[in-house]
Amino acid sequence: MFPLFNKLNHALSSSIQRQLSVFFILLISITMLIVACCIHYFARTALYSAEKQYLNDEVVIIQKLLNTYPGNLWAIHDEVQAVPIALKKASYHYFVKILTNHHEIITETRGVNALLDHAPFPVLQKHWQDNLRSWLYKNKHYLLISAPLSFKHHHDANIYIALDKTFQYNLLVRFRWLLLIFSIICIIVMSLLSIFVIKHSLQALDKVSNTATEIELNTLNKITDVDSWPNELKPVISAFNQMIDNLSHGFYKFKRSVMEMAHELKSPISNLVSENSVTLLQQRSVDEYQETIASNLEELRRVDQIVNDILFLAQSDAQKMELKREIFSANQEITMITDLFSAAMSEKNISVELRGDANVMMDKNLFGRLINNVLSNAIAYSHANTSINITIKKNSNTAEITIQDQGIGIAEDDIKHIFSNFYRTDIARCMNQKGNGLGLAIVYNIVKLHNAEVTINSQVGKGTLVIITNLSLSN
Ligand SMILES: Nc1ncnc2c1ncn2[C@@H]1O[C@H](COP(=O)(O)OP(=O)(O)O)[C@@H](O)[C@H]1O
Ligand SMILES: [Mg+2]
Repeated sequence: MFPLFNKLNHALSSSIQRQLSVFFILLISITMLIVACCIHYFARTALYSAEKQYLNDEVVIIQKLLNTYPGNLWAIHDEVQAVPIALKKASYHYFVKILTNHHEIITETRGVNALLDHAPFPVLQKHWQDNLRSWLYKNKHYLLISAPLSFKHHHDANIYIALDKTFQYNLLVRFRWLLLIFSIICIIVMSLLSIFVIKHSLQALDKVSNTATEIELNTLNKITDVDSWPNELKPVISAFNQMIDNLSHGFYKFKRSVMEMAHELKSPISNLVSENSVTLLQQRSVDEYQETIASNLEELRRVDQIVNDILFLAQSDAQKMELKREIFSANQEITMITDLFSAAMSEKNISVELRGDANVMMDKNLFGRLINNVLSNAIAYSHANTSINITIKKNSNTAEITIQDQGIGIAEDDIKHIFSNFYRTDIARCMNQKGNGLGLAIVYNIVKLHNAEVTINSQVGKGTLVIITNLSLSN
């Protein structure tokens, strides 16, 4: 029992079309059954009340005759014996019998005795309208009525009328069959129609899936004719188009990164190839070989740096980097990093002023890399004989670090792209500064990994201010 129910449940829940079809077939069947029952009930009630009225009218006619012609039994005889025979071909065929209270026959329709002799006459009640009874005798259907009659100067009597309603009864039976067949045909036709409509409506989903299967990375086509789709599917199409947009944006970014990466790697590798080819053209002295190897090493370090930076970016982009948070003094860490740049700074006569401190809770290695990248830029792009101001401020429960230089600055148009991979301003490229344009992209990712924020304000020719906010403090 239960496995069958589970199978049925699974079959239904696995298909919207099946669910809707079953629902509509049930709905149509129940509706048709209710309609058919109502029609049958009204037809039967209408027939019954017509028959009842016919019998009551007959009783009233005979009582009226008795009152109009008191003592004249011929008028009654005529109504009871002749009229039913004369009306034999009418739609209602009836038999009458009038008996005294002592069951003596006063008058009766010919042949009624054979019919009503065995009739289970209802016990007389005072209110004759209720004295009706259905009676099946020799395959014929009758409606019986009994009522008291009052004779003037005579004893009281009772009238019994049997209305032959076999024809009406058979008509009702035929009508019932007709209703049943009509209902079944309606249920079948309407069910097929609803299945067709449901199938047709759900075809739109097939169209979506066909479009989805045709999508390839090179042809990320959106669905263009959104208005021609059914209203219910418009949100799906919009979401689908949004997904295509996101995918093509991501794919474009990915393609650009790959091209930029190839471009960045191309120059050190080309340098290596040409330098080694030239060296191998003829016999060289040991010094010359050493010089070539030293130069090769420099190029290889560049390649190594690019590959490491790309790896770091890929890991931090995918949020797969595990942070080893610890509490340390930001001032101490920055001082240590600044010392590493002392040679580069003294070359350009640049000084660093560091103010403030805060115990931050961050990954110390990543913090070092972050400050290193920002500070190396500040030194590289500062004018000679200037100073770099670094401040560490504590806010309510976060810390803020600013690094201000007096250098070449960054144009407003460049600031928009400054955190993108491999992005370098034209001035920086012309300055022949070493770099690969990944330093600030790494800064951005480290800051994001720590749920902090970084912004850059800059003015060309005046200097650049890097602001890192929302850094976690130790409690
Ligand atoms: N302090 C700065 N002053 C002027 N320009 C800067 C500064 N910091 C970064 N930039 C610009 O942003 C670009 C990207 O910086 P970065 O990602 O560190 O790459 P890289 O230093 O390797 O060129 C630099 O090439 C430079 O054009
Ligand atoms: Mg840099």
